[in-house]
Amino acid sequence: MRYDYLIIGTGVAGLYAALNIPEDKNVLIISKDPLWECNTFYAQGGITTAKDEDDIPSHIEDTLKAGAGLCDPKAVEILSRNSINIIKDLIERGFEFDRDKKGNLLFTKEAAHSKPRILHAGGDATGRELHLFLMRNNRHKVLEGCIVTDLLCDDGICYGATVRYRGILQNIYAKNVLIASGGIGSLYEYNTNAKTISSDLQGIAVEKGIKLKDMAFTQFHPTVFIKDKRARKLLLTESLRGEGATVVDENKKRFLFDYDDRGELAPRDIVSRAIFRYQQAGHSVYLSFDNFDKAFFKKRFPTIYKNFQELGFDVPKQKVPISPAFHFMMGGIESDYYSKVKGFLNLYAVGEVACTGVHGANRLASNSLLEGLVFSKRAVEDSLTNEVKIKPKEFKINSYPLIKKDDKKYRHLLRKTMWEKVGIIRTKKGLLEAAQTIEDISKKDIGRFLKLRLNSAKKIVESALSIKKSIGAHYLED
Ligand code: SIN
Repeated sequence: MRYDYLIIGTGVAGLYAALNIPEDKNVLIISKDPLWECNTFYAQGGITTAKDEDDIPSHIEDTLKAGAGLCDPKAVEILSRNSINIIKDLIERGFEFDRDKKGNLLFTKEAAHSKPRILHAGGDATGRELHLFLMRNNRHKVLEGCIVTDLLCDDGICYGATVRYRGILQNIYAKNVLIASGGIGSLYEYNTNAKTISSDLQGIAVEKGIKLKDMAFTQFHPTVFIKDKRARKLLLTESLRGEGATVVDENKKRFLFDYDDRGELAPRDIVSRAIFRYQQAGHSVYLSFDNFDKAFFKKRFPTIYKNFQELGFDVPKQKVPISPAFHFMMGGIESDYYSKVKGFLNLYAVGEVACTGVHGANRLASNSLLEGLVFSKRAVEDSLTNEVKIKPKEFKINSYPLIKKDDKKYRHLLRKTMWEKVGIIRTKKGLLEAAQTIEDISKKDIGRFLKLRLNSAKKIVESALSIKKSIGAHYLED
């Protein structure tokens, strides 16, 4: 099977890349599970955009500030400058953002933004609406249940990937390969990510000598309902707080002001740490919707309303117990301003799997869908303008045992270790213990998918150990 493009992943980055590839190109998009099982589908808050040319400097400043000085300013400028056209493109193609009665776009505010500049759709279902829209407009071939087990790389060229499809391992060859497989959520016991997001491609990158950057910077979302049995924990979007929800303890005290003057609207690393510490001190923490009228709440946050009614919470009357949980990976496969993987002619990384430098040490809320849109378009533009001639090459299929009998037990140990020792508040001792656990599991009789998770986890721990002071989402207690 030879294609012009192989796109790995069906989140916003993969699908928007596909939308920008001309129809006469031979494109294959592959998805590990059902198409919607990706982080885009579950994204609630929205898509940040500079509201107009005058807002670009302020959006850039907010992004750089959130990133704690570690963003790449040029990448941030690209992100912000392109946001206006990207949103225009979506609207012209027929995507419907929420509007007021007069037809004006509605902008909401989230933590660490100096003004409301976040567009949303379906109230709190921006990701789901965007995903449906991109799927409906997709004209290229898609395979579901197609899992990458290896990349076919040689001398700065990626020839394609080995996949398992319908139980059979096979090689798929392509002139351009776009990795859009998402972050690392499954490495953490408590996370908001789709269950497919398990860092397989980051793990393969480690084997291929592809550089992973900023891996210490794992972002924890402050307001998550973790008492649900499912692996993916339920997010309570930042925009709830942007629109007036408060974080309270068992006595209705808004304790966040004891930690930061901005209270509920402080950057999410600060809010996450404050809640975590407060819980460790023995308090219960809740998100309260006292400020909301029921009709408004139902209309503005329909998904959250429905989810929590089903769970037995009478929202907005009743408050919901919350805790921080892992949410987003700032680090990933190092890629340039056109999303090209460093050292490769035809390999691109887009969306959460990539490290473009736009997030630095801490991502500004709702910049992630925007990053996926902006940088996937740039990847396609680059591949079309700099078409590379690649002489086909055949690769043997490496058939590894993908899963072994004890993997589940070790996966669980890894998730627990990452949560407890490589989490919201870290210590050198904890990080060293995590490194040892990862090493110990690596020596067991394990399958390939677990091995790939361990490769990624090891990079996170190594990166965290190499940064000696607290910065952004990497917080050291000692
Ligand atoms: C949210 O809705 O709170 C998540 C938005 C984001 O992760 O940027």
